[in-house]
Amino acid sequence: MEQERNNQSQHQPQEQAPAQEKMQPSATRWWQNAVIYQIYPRSFQDSNGDGIGDLQGIIRRLDYLERLGIDGIWLSPVCKSPQDDNGYDISDYQDIDPMFGSLSDMEQLIEEAKKRNIRIIMDLVLNHTSDEHPWFVEAKSGRDNPYHDYYVWRDGVEGIPPNEMRACFGGSAWQWVPEVGQYYFHQFSVRQPDLNWDNPKVRQEIYEMIRWWMDKGVGGFRLDVIDQIAKVPDKGITNNGPMLHTYIQELSRETFQKGDLVTVGEAWGATPELAKLYSSPDGREFSMVFQFEHINLDQQEGKEKWDLAPLPFLKLKEVLNQWQTGLYGCGWNSLFWDNHDLPRIVSRWGDDGKYREESAKMLATLLHGMQGTPYIYQGEELGMTNVKYSIEEYRDIETLNMYRERMGAGCKKEEVMASVYAKSRDNARTPMQWDGGEYAGFSGSTPWIRVNPNYQKINAASQVGVEGSVFEYYRRLVKLRKEHPVLIDGRFQLLLERDGQIFAYLRENGQSRLLVVCNFFGEPVKCGLAGEWDKAKLLIGNYEGAGEEAGFSEVLRPYEARMYLVS
Ligand code: GLC
Ligand code: CA
Repeated sequence: MEQERNNQSQHQPQEQAPAQEKMQPSATRWWQNAVIYQIYPRSFQDSNGDGIGDLQGIIRRLDYLERLGIDGIWLSPVCKSPQDDNGYDISDYQDIDPMFGSLSDMEQLIEEAKKRNIRIIMDLVLNHTSDEHPWFVEAKSGRDNPYHDYYVWRDGVEGIPPNEMRACFGGSAWQWVPEVGQYYFHQFSVRQPDLNWDNPKVRQEIYEMIRWWMDKGVGGFRLDVIDQIAKVPDKGITNNGPMLHTYIQELSRETFQKGDLVTVGEAWGATPELAKLYSSPDGREFSMVFQFEHINLDQQEGKEKWDLAPLPFLKLKEVLNQWQTGLYGCGWNSLFWDNHDLPRIVSRWGDDGKYREESAKMLATLLHGMQGTPYIYQGEELGMTNVKYSIEEYRDIETLNMYRERMGAGCKKEEVMASVYAKSRDNARTPMQWDGGEYAGFSGSTPWIRVNPNYQKINAASQVGVEGSVFEYYRRLVKLRKEHPVLIDGRFQLLLERDGQIFAYLRENGQSRLLVVCNFFGEPVKCGLAGEWDKAKLLIGNYEGAGEEAGFSEVLRPYEARMYLVS
């Protein structure tokens, strides 16, 4: 078995010229002008009163998304799944989980979205399957089973795993299966066995499945933890394995390159150098990379995300600057503060109290002014906040495993809970706040996870069409992106690099110059950027009346953000 695997890993897919003929000059691809909205289906809108969001619920809310102006929906996984990791553990890639609806609901969603010029981007979880996937059920039934080599197995003795590798959700990365007398490898939960990408049969099955979805008219794919598919557990390698880019290029060639799709590679371990490979304009891998360097800064170095540290603001500027300049003309980035794995940005780096609206808008301005494709995570456009629940009310496997582990290791409960409040993925997974009615208009009955108690104050009904609301501000930002090409192709230049309070930058494309200036904190600050900006046009600002004021204001109020244009 071992030998066979090694042979297979030497099988190098043939190099081919990238799909040159399909390439257009960068900045004209549709997804470079797009804004993508992420839906976490469980928590978006329930349509049948079981307390869980579903596809018909999403269809019902498409008008809301059309109004916001977005071009694509990244849909977190809706395929059949035992839901050990809320759908990131798939047991059938070609069917919809009954909890979310049916395949025909999915087809209807694709069609209804299309009518509104919105493309559906599916979440492809290709690093692992569920342990209930028929492949795995077969694989663990015997070493000679044809599916055995679809997963990563190592010999060993019960109780002594092959090595010390740990899973991302805690515990050993190895799980003993007595029936075969071997361990299987899992980078996530024990119920998410890793697929063996060194096996060409696995790869071919995956490509076929992707083409099947492409035929259904999906607009693209988000590739879950794609940098971990080429693991080499014997060497302790999880991400960026030696075969990674060979596999990705084969995947792209066999599937995406056949259509005008957007593809987004989730890569926790990407550097700007690696990102050029992932998102090279020749299209041989993905459209863009989704990396986390900027969002991981508020933790103790070398430790876990739960080990909290204040945000090093100058470092944030440095990191964003490196990505903006590093990928200019040779790659493409995703711009995001939030997703289903991250806490709410307004609570995290803004102020979810007194300046909630101002800081939510400031963070949005800062992000949407940069180069890349912006992502809005459901509820971000309303300024939704983190929650503080008692531990029994949390649902996320990662949070609960961490709680158990740290409490077991004798950590103080207040400290463990402080980490949960700050970083639990459930902060982003509480039901979408549609209105001030019971369960926030999300469902007619008790939701699978408690609604954030602030739903009467923060909800869509009180913001849509209401001037000055966070929602309307996001809507304007999305619109500005369509009106000003400099936002798409302008070169980025960081200003006031050493300023400890202001985040300011220029975008420039030969036709126009755009200035974004943000006070990242709650104290007013004087900003020495007047001069040519005295006569610039204010495109958007987050303080009342800012729209009418001409000229440059020297003092930035708490969390004030402004975007100016000279053309
Ligand atoms: C990605 C997903 C996350 C999931 C993990 C395992 O990081 O975003 O939600 O738990 O992969 O699939
Ligand atoms: Ca439902």
